[in-house]
Amino acid sequence: MEGGWPVVGGVLLCLTVSLLLPGSLLTTGRGDTFTINCSGFDQYGVDPAAFQAVFDRKAFRPVINNSIPTHVNISFTLSTILEVNAQLQLLTSFLWINLMWNNPFISWNPQECVSLKKLTVSAENLWLPDIVILESMDVDQAPPGLTAFVNSEGQIKYDRPVRVTSICNLDIFYFPFDQQNCTLTFSSFLYTVDSMLLGMDKEVWEITDTSRNLIQTQGEWELLSINKATPKMLVGSNLYDQIMFYVAIRRRPSLYVINLLVPSGFLVAIDALSFYLPAESENRAPFKMTLLLGYNVFLLMMNDLLPASGTPLISVYFALCLSLMVVSLLETIFITYLLHLATTQPPPMPRWLHSLLLYWASPRKCCPTAPQKGNKGLGPTPTHLPGVKEPVELVWKVSGPREAELNGCPGSAETQQEEEARKQHLVDLWVKFSHVMDTLLFRLYLLFMATSVVTVIVLWNT
Ligand SMILES: *[C@@H]1O[C@H](CO)[C@@H](O)[C@H](O)[C@H]1NC(C)=O
Ligand SMILES: *[C@@H]1O[C@H](CO)[C@@H](O)[C@H](O)[C@H]1NC(C)=O
Ligand SMILES: *[C@@H]1O[C@H](CO)[C@@H](O)[C@H](O)[C@H]1NC(C)=O
Ligand SMILES: *[C@@H]1O[C@H](CO)[C@@H](O)[C@H](O)[C@H]1NC(C)=O
Repeated sequence: MEGGWPVVGGVLLCLTVSLLLPGSLLTTGRGDTFTINCSGFDQYGVDPAAFQAVFDRKAFRPVINNSIPTHVNISFTLSTILEVNAQLQLLTSFLWINLMWNNPFISWNPQECVSLKKLTVSAENLWLPDIVILESMDVDQAPPGLTAFVNSEGQIKYDRPVRVTSICNLDIFYFPFDQQNCTLTFSSFLYTVDSMLLGMDKEVWEITDTSRNLIQTQGEWELLSINKATPKMLVGSNLYDQIMFYVAIRRRPSLYVINLLVPSGFLVAIDALSFYLPAESENRAPFKMTLLLGYNVFLLMMNDLLPASGTPLISVYFALCLSLMVVSLLETIFITYLLHLATTQPPPMPRWLHSLLLYWASPRKCCPTAPQKGNKGLGPTPTHLPGVKEPVELVWKVSGPREAELNGCPGSAETQQEEEARKQHLVDLWVKFSHVMDTLLFRLYLLFMATSVVTVIVLWNT
């Protein structure tokens, strides 16, 4: 490095300029000055020869004393969040990175140089700090041929757009109401704290505001906040300066709410309402089966909206909806079986069950099976609901052949009628029991549904 001094001194001459410019920017501790001679600027724009000395030194860090670290100010604007890949745990974003540092070999007097205060210089002619994002999993894809602003005091401002694919610990448990906190660590790749110090000329809330305004209108993700921390990183015996930015983003859930949660909720609601179809009706089980089938098709179609890895809460919600439907179908099968048993070969009813049934049935409650109960009381009314008629008919069919058998014995007509009535009573009791069971199971189903939905919502809100 020391071998470069005479070259620079020979090219960068200055006589009176040092009196006009702030001394600290131009002079080192030794009092040397490096000022660009811009007498040729008037005729053909900037004279390349005047900057040649600076360009020649671009391979070296521009400092006058090697023990003075270069201060690099970093800021960035997050312009787009392109993709959040939960499977690979990657965040792809687009950043405009602004770097600012001082080159003590560049300075000129604007009054002498046709009032030129700053100019652009092709970045490949300048020394650039090797700032990298440590989380980045991609090679730097900055477009070639960028330029930098250089002002008369030697401050260089270099902006570049970068597409950053950074590794980020993504937690999709709360999908689609999830928030992610990704870190972007800016650090020099090579220079330790002896050679390079990082700083910021902007406050972190300014970065957040600018970025939020840009991101606001687009995409699935919303920027919540950006925080920073500046821990130094020790690798072996080398200490590196770094600035960590914590980018907190939140998913906009409306797409998923409309496409996943609402249809699923509707299907479960219809499933619950289908309990109001009469238990005797043959429609209830096929209806529920169709719903179950429809729900499976829905899940298959919506599968690619879900994150490909992990078990988010929404999968639990779907499994819950599915199991509610299966349980309700099982309940219908059970009640249908019970009714079938009651109307064909009713077993004798245990006394405790009988009294329990009387206890349950006595208060007039509003329940899905209430209309049939009312009809039962009226006896066989063939004009009404087919579900009511059916068991009565069955009873007659069952007792028909037996009646013919007993016809040979004329004295038993009365007992036969009595037996008939007793059996009818038993059938009524069992049918009533089935309805009570139906109501009870329906309420348990509703309770289970409410509890699980509330649990899922509470979990989502925490
Ligand atoms: C600047 O350079 C010109 C030639 O390009 C020379 O004539 C002039 O003396 C120089 N000025 C200073 C202050 O060195
Ligand atoms: C460089 O700076 C250090 C401390 O700032 C000082 O001790 C040293 O003498 C300087 N070296 C030169 C060659 O000026
Ligand atoms: C993100 O994580 C960092 C530490 O890992 C923490 O300091 C910061 O507060 C978090 N930000 C948010 C918004 O949760
Ligand atoms: C960096 O930022 C600090 C604080 O805002 C400021 O004092 C300093 O001049 C800046 N340095 C450069 C090279 O822009």
